[in-house]
Amino acid sequence: MSANDTIDPTRRDFLYVATGMAGVVGAAAVAWPFIDQMRPDASTLAASSIEVDVSSLTPGMSLTVKWRGKPVFIRNRTPEEIKSAQEVPLAELKDPVARNANLSGDAQATDIDRSAGDGKENWLVMVGVCTHLGCVPLGQQGDFGGWFCPCHGSHYDTAGRIRKGPAPENMAIPTFSFISDSTIRIG
Ligand code: FES
Repeated sequence: MSANDTIDPTRRDFLYVATGMAGVVGAAAVAWPFIDQMRPDASTLAASSIEVDVSSLTPGMSLTVKWRGKPVFIRNRTPEEIKSAQEVPLAELKDPVARNANLSGDAQATDIDRSAGDGKENWLVMVGVCTHLGCVPLGQQGDFGGWFCPCHGSHYDTAGRIRKGPAPENMAIPTFSFISDSTIRIG
C-alpha cells in the first residue's frame, strides 16, 4: 500500500458518494417497470419526458412504463404480429385514423403509421388506456392477439387499433423518438 492509498480514500469516498448520488438522480428521471397499481404520484406527474432503455426487450416482449401518470406500453412485436396487422385492410378498421402524435392528425391507421416507422416497425409505443372509459387493457389477449380490455370487452389488434367492442378509437401513440438504438424518449 503506498502513501497515496492511505490519503486518497477520503477523496475516493467522496467521489464515490458523489457518483452514487448522480446515479440515483439519473435513475429517478428514467422510467421504471410498471408493476404497481395506478397511483400517480407527484414525481410521476412531474416527469414530462422519460427515457426508457429497451435493450432487454427481444421480439415478443413488452414493458409498461408510467408517463405523466399513465401506463405506456412498449412492445417489441414479433414478425407474426406485424404481418397480421399489415394484412388488415383499412376499410375493416373501426377507427381509420392513426392517432399518432408524431404524425399529422389525418394520418391513416396503417400498421407502419401506428409503429415507430420505417426500419423500426417492430416497435409499438402507445398509451395503455382503453379509449372507452379508461381501463388498462391486457396484453396479448382478445380476438385479434393484441390487447383486450376486460371492463366492457374491447378488442385491439397487434397495432393497438380498436377492432371490436365499445371503444371508439385506437389507443393513442404518444410523442416519442429513439434517441439511440436502444433508448426511447417519450414526451
Ligand atoms: S373501458 Fe375498456 S371497454 Fe370499457
